[in-house]
Amino acid sequence: MKRVILVIGAKGMLGRDLMGDLLSSLPNDEVFGWDIEEIDIQKEEDTVFKIEKLRPDILIHIAAYTDVDGCELDKEKAFAVNAEGTKHVALAASRCRAKMVYLSTDYVFDGNKREPYLESDPPHPLNVYGRSKLEGEQYVQTGVKDSLIIRTQWLYGRYGKNFVASILQQAGEKRVLSIVNDQIGSPTYTADLAKAISALIQFDARGIFHVANSDLCTWYTFGQAILKLSGMDRVRVIPISSKESGRPAVRPSYSVLNCQRLKKETGLVLRPWSEALKDYLAAYPLRISREGR
Ligand SMILES: NC(=O)c1ccc[n+]([C@@H]2O[C@H](COP(=O)([O-])OP(=O)(O)OC[C@H]3O[C@@H](n4cnc5c(N)ncnc54)[C@H](OP(=O)(O)O)[C@@H]3O)[C@@H](O)[C@H]2O)c1
Repeated sequence: MKRVILVIGAKGMLGRDLMGDLLSSLPNDEVFGWDIEEIDIQKEEDTVFKIEKLRPDILIHIAAYTDVDGCELDKEKAFAVNAEGTKHVALAASRCRAKMVYLSTDYVFDGNKREPYLESDPPHPLNVYGRSKLEGEQYVQTGVKDSLIIRTQWLYGRYGKNFVASILQQAGEKRVLSIVNDQIGSPTYTADLAKAISALIQFDARGIFHVANSDLCTWYTFGQAILKLSGMDRVRVIPISSKESGRPAVRPSYSVLNCQRLKKETGLVLRPWSEALKDYLAAYPLRISREGR
C-alpha cells in the first residue's frame, strides 16, 4: 500500500540528500518535503493543523536550529525550535498515528566516556544545542508510540554551510589555518547518512540508533585531509585547543558513536570517513579563488 511520507527540514543540508534518496529508494510511496516556508514548527496550532491535514504515515523531522554557537547565544530560540518545535511535531505525529523519525546529535554526550558511545549510554549534554536536542528526543519518546531516533555527528554535504566548505574557503584566503585538535569524532557525509535513514525506515526500525561514517579523527586531522585531497596542502595548518578557538559553545572532547546496532539490525556499516570525503570532493570540487595569496 502506498504510504505518505513527510520530511520536515527538507531544504536543509541533510534534507536535500534525504529527499533525493527517499524519492528513488521508495518509488511506491508518496514523499512530501516541507521546510520553514511551508511550516514553522515553533507555531503549535499551525504545525498540528498542517500535518493533520496531510495525515502522513511516516513523519521524518530533521528541521532544527543547528548553529551550535548560535544556540549558546540565543538559548530561547534553541529551545523554541529544537525542543518545543519537536514537541509540536510529535503531537501531530501522535494524532495521525504516524511513525516519527527524529534526527539527534552526538552532542547529547559529554565526552567523558573516551570510547564509542552506545545508544544506551546516559546522555549529559555540555551545551545549549545538545540540551535542546535531548529535550526534543524526550518529547518524541514520550509523545509518539512508534518512533525512531537517529543520532549522528559532524555532518558535511553538498548543500549548506559545513566544515569542509569552510576550510576550503579559508584556504583560498589565508596561508595559515588554525584548527581545533582536542575534539574527536567521525565526520559524516550526508549522502551516506541519507541512505542509512532510508534503510532504517525500510527495516521499520524503532528506538535509538547511532549512525556515522566509520573511523575517527580530530577536526585538525580532518582539515589536513580536506586540504591534501584538494591539492591545497601547501596551506599550513596549526593545531589549537578548543579553549584557544574561543567558540562560545563547549563541545565534547570525544563523541564517537558506536554504530553496532545499525550493523546488527540492518547489516549496514557506513564506510570510513576518509573514503566518503574522497568521493565527496571528487564529485563536488569547490572552486577556490587563489587571488590575494
Ligand atoms: N549539521 C550537523 O553536523 C549535525 C550533527 C548532528 C545532528 N544533526 C541534526 O541533523 C538534522 C539535519 O541537520 P542539517 O545540518 O541538515 O541542518 P540544516 O542544514 O540547518 O537544515 C535544517 C533545516 O530546518 C529549517 N528550520 C529551522 N527552523 C525551522 C522551523 N522553525 N520550522 C521549520 N523549519 C525550520 C532550516 O531552515 P533555515 O535554514 O531557513 O533556518 C533548514 O532548512 C538536524 O536535526 C540536526 O540537529 C546535524
